Amino acid sequence: NNIIFVASECTPFVKTGGLADVVGSLPQTLNQHENMEVRVILPLYKEIIEGWFDQLELMESFLVPVGWRNQEAKLYKLSYHGVVYYFIGNDYYFSRKGTYGYYDDGERFVFFSRAVVDALTKLDFKPTILHGHDWQAGLAVAFAKIQQPIEQLKTIFTIHNIKYQGIMQTEAYDELFNVPRNHIGGLEWNGLLNCMKAGLFHADKITTVSPSYAEEIKTPHYGEGLYPILTERHEDLVGIINGIDTDEYNPETDKHISFTYKQSQVKKKENKKSLQEKLGLPVNAEKPLYVIVTRLVEQKGLHLLQAIIDEFLQEDVQFILLGTGEHEFEDYFYHAAERNKERLVSYLGFDEGLARQLYAASDFFVMPSQFEPCGLSQLIALQYESVPIVRETGGLKDTVTPYNEHTRTGNGFSFANYNAHELLHVLRYSLEIYQNEEHWATLLQNVYNSHFSWNDSSLLYAELYEAVAPSKF
Ligand code: GLC
Repeated sequence: NNIIFVASECTPFVKTGGLADVVGSLPQTLNQHENMEVRVILPLYKEIIEGWFDQLELMESFLVPVGWRNQEAKLYKLSYHGVVYYFIGNDYYFSRKGTYGYYDDGERFVFFSRAVVDALTKLDFKPTILHGHDWQAGLAVAFAKIQQPIEQLKTIFTIHNIKYQGIMQTEAYDELFNVPRNHIGGLEWNGLLNCMKAGLFHADKITTVSPSYAEEIKTPHYGEGLYPILTERHEDLVGIINGIDTDEYNPETDKHISFTYKQSQVKKKENKKSLQEKLGLPVNAEKPLYVIVTRLVEQKGLHLLQAIIDEFLQEDVQFILLGTGEHEFEDYFYHAAERNKERLVSYLGFDEGLARQLYAASDFFVMPSQFEPCGLSQLIALQYESVPIVRETGGLKDTVTPYNEHTRTGNGFSFANYNAHELLHVLRYSLEIYQNEEHWATLLQNVYNSHFSWNDSSLLYAELYEAVAPSKF
C-alpha cells in the first residue's frame, strides 16, 4: 500500500502539540515494513520556508478554486529520515506567523484540503489510502471521497483530540465550497460546517489514539457533541495507542541532559542536583521531585493541581512546573511559586532542553488530565524512569497501571475521578511508596520494563491498511 498522511503539523518541521510527534514518527517506522510506503503532505508555513529553504524542491504549481476565486498552490517536496514530505504553499494563506488561530482558519484549511486532493494526481507517488489527522485534514478526507481523484482510493481519519473540530458558519463558507449541494449534509453538524464531522462521516475507517478514548468518545461526556456519529459508526472505529520515537527520547544518549543513564538512580540523582542548582531549589538528591511538563490548558487537569498544590507542598517535597498557555494558569502558578519558594518552581516558557532535564531529574511525573486521547508525556516519563501519576482516562489509563503492593504490579499511580482530593491522596500515597525501599525498587523495576515504541502499534496500522485496501497478489 501507498499511504499519504494529511496533517497540519509534523516534527521536525512544525509543532504545537503531540499530533506533530505522531505524524513525525509513525511514518518512519511504517516505512520499515515491506510493501508499504507512507508519505506526508503538510501546509507550507512560514517557519518551514525559513527553516528548510535550501532543501525544498518545487514540483509544480496549479490553481485551486476556493469559491469564485482561484488560488495558486505550489507543491514542494523534500526527503528526511527515509520519508518523503510534500508541502502545499500559498503565501496568502500560510506565510504567516505560527500555525492556527486566525480568523480565516476555515478558509485556509478549505484551501489546503482542496489543494491536497488536487495534488494527489500530481505526485510522483500513487496513493491507495489517504489518511487524514484531526480536523484540519477532515475536509481532505471528505473531498477525496466526493471527488474520487484516484480510482479505488480509500480513506482513514484519525482523531487526536475531538475537542477541536474546526467549526464554522456555513453562511460564510458556503461560497468556499464548490461541492454539489447533495454533499453538504456530510460536512455539516447542527447547522454549522464541522471539519471533523466531515472526516468522520466520509472516512472508510476511523481511528483514535487509544482504546479507552475510542470508548469514551462514544459517550456524551467525552464526545464533544459528536458521540452520535461515533456510536453509529462504532464498527469502523478503532483505538490504537501511540508510540514515541525511542531514539529521540533516550536517556542513554540525550544531549540535553547532564548525565546520561539507563536504569540508574545514582545518575538520575546527579541530574536532580544539577537541575536544583540551575533552578535555585535547595540542592538535595534525596528530596522527592515531582514535575509537570504541559501546555497550560484546562484539559491537562490544572484546576485540580491548583486546588491542592499548597496543601501538598506542606510535605517535604519539590515540585517543578514547565509550560505555557492560558493566563489563568500562568498567573496562578507564578504566585503559587512565590508563596512556596523552596518547594515550587514555575517555569512559564517552552524549552525543550529543560523539559528533557525535568524528565531525567524527576522521581514523579504528574498528569491529572480531564481527558487525554493518548498522552505522550507519560510515555516519555516512563522512558526516562520517572514514575507517572495520572488520572484514569484515555491513553493514560491504557499505559499506566497503578502500583499494587500485594501483587507488586503496576508502573505508576492513578486516580479515577476528576476530583482534587483524589489527586492529593494519590500524591501522598506516592510519597509513602517512595519512602519504602522495597516497594520503590519494585515499582522502578516495573517502570524499566514498560516500553512504548512504535513497534507494536505500527503493526496495528499496517493491518488496518491491509484490511481497508488489500494488496493484490
Ligand atoms: C493530542 C492529544 C494527546 C495525544 C496527541 C497525539 O495532542 O491531546 O492526548 O497524545 O494528540 O495523538
